Amino acid sequence: MHAQEGAQILEVNNLKKAFGSGRSRLEVLKGIDMNIESGELVALMGPSGCGKSTLLNIIGGLLEADSGHISLNEFRYGTNPPSRVVDVRRSGVGWIFQDFHLVERLSALDNVIFALELSGVPTSLAESQAEEALRKVGLSDRMNFIPDQLSGGQRQRVAIARAISGSRPLILADEPTGNLDVKSAEGILDLFKELCEDYGISVLMVTHDPNLASKADRMLLLKDGVTAASDIRSAWGTAGDK
Ligand SMILES: Nc1ncnc2c1ncn2[C@@H]1O[C@H](COP(=O)(O)OP(=O)(O)OP(=O)(O)O)[C@@H](O)[C@H]1O
Ligand SMILES: [Mg+2]
Repeated sequence: MHAQEGAQILEVNNLKKAFGSGRSRLEVLKGIDMNIESGELVALMGPSGCGKSTLLNIIGGLLEADSGHISLNEFRYGTNPPSRVVDVRRSGVGWIFQDFHLVERLSALDNVIFALELSGVPTSLAESQAEEALRKVGLSDRMNFIPDQLSGGQRQRVAIARAISGSRPLILADEPTGNLDVKSAEGILDLFKELCEDYGISVLMVTHDPNLASKADRMLLLKDGVTAASDIRSAWGTAGDK
């Protein structure tokens, strides 16, 4: 158990986002309110096109909202353009995507080092931080393998090591198990839970799989532009009505 168990790290207030204008204007997020505590694994579900990735992009500092506020630890943003939320991207959030986004020619270790260096960590520190992150995801014995020599589940572990390296408090995972078989997907969920419990990292994970979502501490359903707490039954209903 970590010291800060239960401390709130993310607070999203009345976040709104629309795309387009005039008759083609599409209101995607209509007032999102949500919190995440330190060490929490939260599953975000909802019909295709409801705005899950849009919400993650705004929390991750890749897109600005039209109105509303976000606090992530010491960071305050929401409507700031991406050029003014560099720090959130560098040290606030780590990203995990469905298709891993690894550099194919670099070893697992160099993939993580490379990302750390891009976020401004000096090379001398980057190597030890990368080794530490790979150890946490159980890949100590695969550090010098390139992605081609790793299984899908192992590749996603490299991506997770990259996301947690440099002690980022929040991991944003957009359908992280979409390209994995059932067993590897469950392995990734188990790893998320371990990282949450052992290191107090928080994970916000988009998934279309109600089974995986039910393993999270909490499920949120995004529908009609707002989020609501959800249980497994309503999540199943949503997964069906694409
Ligand atoms: N840059 C953009 N310009 C215009 N419309 C956009 C833009 N980005 C997203 N949208 C629209 O906003 C809506 C929400 O998209 P988003 O990608 O957030 O959905 P999602 O919930 O992640 O869907 P999926 O489950 O299919 O990944 C969609 O109707 C999409 O077409
Ligand atoms: Mg999406």
